[in-house]
Amino acid sequence: EKARIGVTGLAVMGRNLARNLARHGHPVAVHNRTSARTKALVEQFGDEGTFLPADTPEEFVASLERPRRLVVMVKAGAPTDAVIEEFAPLLEPGDMIVDGGNAHFADTRRREAALRERGLHFVGAGISGGEEGALHGPSIMPGGSAESYEALGPLLEDISAKVDGDPCCAHVGPDGAGHFVKMVHNGIEYSDMQLIAESYDLLRHAAGLAPAEIAEVFRTWNTGRLESYLIEITAEVLAHTDAATGKPFVDVVLDQAEQKGTGRWTVQTALDLGVPVGGIAEAVFARSVSGHAVLREASRHLPGPTRAKVAGSSFADAVEKALYASKIVAYAQGFHEIQAGSAEYGWNIDAGSMAAIWRGGCIIRAGFLDRIRAAYAADPHTPTLLTDAHFAEAVGDAQDAWREVVATAARIGVPAPGLSTALAYYDSLRADRLPAALTQGQRDYFGAHTYRRTDREGTFHTLWGGDRTEVDA
Ligand code: 6PG
Repeated sequence: EKARIGVTGLAVMGRNLARNLARHGHPVAVHNRTSARTKALVEQFGDEGTFLPADTPEEFVASLERPRRLVVMVKAGAPTDAVIEEFAPLLEPGDMIVDGGNAHFADTRRREAALRERGLHFVGAGISGGEEGALHGPSIMPGGSAESYEALGPLLEDISAKVDGDPCCAHVGPDGAGHFVKMVHNGIEYSDMQLIAESYDLLRHAAGLAPAEIAEVFRTWNTGRLESYLIEITAEVLAHTDAATGKPFVDVVLDQAEQKGTGRWTVQTALDLGVPVGGIAEAVFARSVSGHAVLREASRHLPGPTRAKVAGSSFADAVEKALYASKIVAYAQGFHEIQAGSAEYGWNIDAGSMAAIWRGGCIIRAGFLDRIRAAYAADPHTPTLLTDAHFAEAVGDAQDAWREVVATAARIGVPAPGLSTALAYYDSLRADRLPAALTQGQRDYFGAHTYRRTDREGTFHTLWGGDRTEVDA
């Protein structure tokens, strides 16, 4: 018997993906650089389905039915290149290599082009949902050729999460499109997490609630429009008590957030594309600030405001509104980046379908994503989600509370970069006039960089150093 698909790299993500495939009745070849892991997998989970263990790359490749489908689950970067170089020479035209790691989409584009030259399909597939998702149904974002999706799609859809019976897996677009969308997913994840963290911080320091009480607030929110995996686990983490000290768990964890890079890539890419993603950028920077221990220690005694607590009983409701409005902004920015990336690289990404496959399986899964799917169904070319009828109404309704929450944060000296930048973005978009006109004047003054006028076509320069007449530039 041949395997329908193979997985190489059997750390926890690869192992769980292989088990998921086997559990769905797909015979799966398994391989790892050190065969102890392969053995352990078959010993522990062999009864879950058909595993074909292979000790060598040659054996692994030989055990796959044609065209071969080979999933690589190793660390992004050099290890991925090394594995590709090891396996590509053993493959034949039409075979497929799937990279299920968090690769940078530019690497995926490079690898796809190189393997295409050799007659092979290379599919960069974003896979979200962590270890549990890999085992029980992740959200899968495969890029690569349409032809490769014909051979891979049914398998991937089969093992993906399902929402209302629909698989959380769809062909994203050619070459690096899948990894690009997964990258933005993670950027949104950063933003979502930061907004939740700020909300917690405000409930704690403005409203004076204890972590266990805040857990209850989040639990309640999770029954409403904020219902999501991240809100759900936030309540779990906040309710948890440290066994060693009896203190709230959140009080014994070092407050320095780490990151592996996908959020940073989202922002770097957005800068290159010229897309404003302040919510994601502030989330990345907030993690960065938290990690600068020396800087923070040196600044600890800087003066703060003299006012202490403010909030009344309705503050939690205000925070809920601020959080919801800011979340809409975060997703609007993320989807803007997806649209811009799609245009830049000619990927033709269907934004609504991305929202649909994020409804389940992935870290940002939420009822909210169905709203976004509906917004794109109503207007596939909407320049921003903010103008969708539902979101516009929600943000309109939230805005007084949103402003109050941001003002409270500023007044009491609790940092709320995510909530604040979201509001600033919203106000920037709705502004009748922006001070960018002044910026243009300054640029023209010091560098003769020219400007355009509101009342006439053309490009102009004022002779600032002379008699200040205006000339055509
Ligand atoms: C997912 C997650 C996953 C990973 C993050 C963590 O979609 O399943 O996003 O990819 O847990 O990359 O990222 P940081 O370590 O950068 O927070």
